[in-house]
Amino acid sequence: MCGIAGYIGPMQAESVLLVALERLKYRGYDSAGMAILDSHEILIRKSEGRLRQLEEQLSMRPVLGHCGIAHTRWATHGAPTTINAHPHTCARGNIAVVHNGIIENHEVLRSRLQAAGAIFQSQTDTEVIPNLLAQVYTGDPLAAIQAIISELQGSFAFAAVFEDHPDHIFVARQGSPLLVGRGEGQMLLASDIPALLPHAHEYLQLEDGQLAVLTRGQVRICSFSGAVIEPAFKTIEMNVESVSKGDYDSFMAKEIAEQPEVLQRILESRLRGDTLTDPDLGIDLRGINHVVFLAAGTSWHAALLGKRFLESLARIHVEVDISSEYRYRNPVASGGTLVVAISQSGETADTLASLRLAKSKFIPVVSLVNVMDSTIARESDGVMPLLAGPEIGVASTKAYTAQVFALYAFALHLARVKGRIDGEQMRRHLDGMRPIPELVAHSLALAEDRVLAAAELFTPANATVFLGRGGEFPTALEGALKLKEISYVHAMGYAGGEFKHGPIALVTPSLPVVCICPRDAMYEKMISNIEEVRARQGRIIAVGDADDDTLAGIADICFPVLRSEDELLQPLLSILPLQRYAYHVARGRNCDVDQPRNLAKSVTVE
Ligand code: G6P
Repeated sequence: MCGIAGYIGPMQAESVLLVALERLKYRGYDSAGMAILDSHEILIRKSEGRLRQLEEQLSMRPVLGHCGIAHTRWATHGAPTTINAHPHTCARGNIAVVHNGIIENHEVLRSRLQAAGAIFQSQTDTEVIPNLLAQVYTGDPLAAIQAIISELQGSFAFAAVFEDHPDHIFVARQGSPLLVGRGEGQMLLASDIPALLPHAHEYLQLEDGQLAVLTRGQVRICSFSGAVIEPAFKTIEMNVESVSKGDYDSFMAKEIAEQPEVLQRILESRLRGDTLTDPDLGIDLRGINHVVFLAAGTSWHAALLGKRFLESLARIHVEVDISSEYRYRNPVASGGTLVVAISQSGETADTLASLRLAKSKFIPVVSLVNVMDSTIARESDGVMPLLAGPEIGVASTKAYTAQVFALYAFALHLARVKGRIDGEQMRRHLDGMRPIPELVAHSLALAEDRVLAAAELFTPANATVFLGRGGEFPTALEGALKLKEISYVHAMGYAGGEFKHGPIALVTPSLPVVCICPRDAMYEKMISNIEEVRARQGRIIAVGDADDDTLAGIADICFPVLRSEDELLQPLLSILPLQRYAYHVARGRNCDVDQPRNLAKSVTVE
């Protein structure tokens, strides 16, 4: 969470950094700010609220200069006010810092600095960094950073500028992502690749324990203790279009629409004619008899489906754990266990910590990530790329369906490795996968009018319940998460069979209950759920087969979905109208679907 950026080169830093912040705001958008160096001083502009408030301030009071650092914040320590917005400076104002992460011992450091006369302006943990630097600074910024860095506990990536070094940016990384970008005569830094575009053509990922000094044409890298490190740049493959909204009104709308092409990409990467290609994991899976999925948020919902796939296809015992729970337990490590970490961003702090815990117990770890150069990917023994392309809308859509599809392919792979399916069965499953991208494309075009009508009808409702069974239980959880994330409607997903054990008490004539009810093995049970809700005058939105007249007859509104031949893959189709429903309810409530309040896409703090 929080995004940091920096620029040094021939362009006006202000305009480059505003674009970078626009691309980083998915990481947090409580406040934004920048520090630009001219030849005499550090000029700071910052504002609470959305990036446009900073833009307005800059249009009234522009800052000229070719070197600067910038920040977009997701508040951890201190309210989301202008005072707490980054950059932070020392009292003299000659050192400015932007920071992503948490300095865990900031209170101790703050008390010590205050006792020595430092005056703090904000409630942030970050402000200790410029103050510590000021205490030891004698004209050599790198030496000052090296002198204080061992005092900082926690995870951080920070960038600092010093008034008397107007052509330099100093950065340090310990635990939070930080990339350096290189273009023609210009250097950039950012928390993520999209923010380096279009000026950088190459990038390198700073490692934990490294410092870098950026000047116009070059970067010098060394360890915290000063050992020189040769920079190794890679070409940036991403293009500007993939991180722009294009003709869509939001990233979420664009990403929902991209799902067919993402699933097609996954299919093409895994299928060669009639065979499933092996993922290049570098791990011998033959001895694996127990899989633990670790994930957070939407990725956890995908993991729940992963469990179904692995148990059904590979007959392997599977556990699904919430990363933030696993990391504080003392999980039993037995031979034959494989941990699979699922994370769109590859940076979720809890998932990373649980991955490290598993590794400390010598459990092999494979990750399924969308950002291939992420920390989780780099620390895993093997990586499965998600291939969803950049996902920028905070509410995950295309990454979810990509995760589900990729987990299905992984389950098939494991089933084959373990000898649990024969060639004929494999062919049947692959035949079930092939039509999915097209079915998703058709489903997305289906009955938009009904989704809109339902959204209009139920926009005033302040709670919604989602029910599903079997493979549609994770769909119910994910549908509820989408709705609450972007429209702030209280929404809960329940397993249909659990409904009578408490939640049914919520049913009133004003409660919409979304029942996910394709004609699968659980169909009759779900129809009973619907009848129970109807008997208590609840309102029903049903998700079911397009030709299911029974369902249409008992629901207030029915969202039709197409059927997958392979029942295991049906949740990929059932979730689609629920993504669109959440989107339309949010729009009806005038909510910002891409930047919902209080959330951030990449949660790099605990
Ligand atoms: C945040 C996002 C969610 C996401 C979760 C896990 O909470 O708002 O959309 O599902 O993090 O993120 P990951 O990148 O690990 O999949």
